[in-house]
Amino acid sequence: MNLVIETIKSRRSIRKYETKKIEQEKIEAIVEAGLYAPSGHNKQPWHFTVLENKEIMDKISVETKKMLLDSETPIFRKMGRNEKLHILYNAPTVIIVSGKKEDSYSMDADLAAATQNMLLAAESLGLASCWVGLIVAYFNNKTEIKVRNEEVGIPEGYEVQYAVTLGYSPLYGEAKPHKRAENTVNYVK
Ligand SMILES: Cc1cc2nc3c(=O)[nH]c(=O)nc-3n(C[C@H](O)[C@H](O)[C@H](O)COP(=O)(O)O)c2cc1C
Repeated sequence: MNLVIETIKSRRSIRKYETKKIEQEKIEAIVEAGLYAPSGHNKQPWHFTVLENKEIMDKISVETKKMLLDSETPIFRKMGRNEKLHILYNAPTVIIVSGKKEDSYSMDADLAAATQNMLLAAESLGLASCWVGLIVAYFNNKTEIKVRNEEVGIPEGYEVQYAVTLGYSPLYGEAKPHKRAENTVNYVK
């Protein structure tokens, strides 16, 4: 089968990582894959922060879980109470994806395209990954937003939308794809 299609079909969200560091050239290749995503009107409204500071990652996890405890959604409250859960799964590298809303017509879609490109690049390089939307709770916290953005160098005017956890994993290549939803395609000829 075509390699790109094979990579798309074999990628899975993996939530368990080894502590082994990722080679810098692989990280750069993954970020570059993000940079090459399509974007509405070619605005490229993204910024990528490569985070490898364990102290900050742990703080993000602890503070996010505190916020989850107050959620109206039972599953989020359960996550907040789960002592074993690390929101970023103790991955050695996390890429934070932030975007510039003003002057972009399609920031969310553009950042999602960039994020998926990075997941696929990671898969093709033998790395496990997971898309983490929950990171928004930490960065969009009303009273702390400025301090938290500065902590990891998010540029002025950008807001955090997603994160991608990355690392080597014993589970890489193990999981089968989820069953796909049915009746989601039609053809008109
Ligand atoms: C927008 C978005 C946000 C997500 N946020 C999280 C998250 O915060 N934590 C997590 O563990 N997985 C998160 N995921 C991963 C999904 O749970 C996962 O893609 C889904 O269960 C399908 O599994 P698969 O990726 O292995 O096919 C997110 C995925 C998307 C597209």
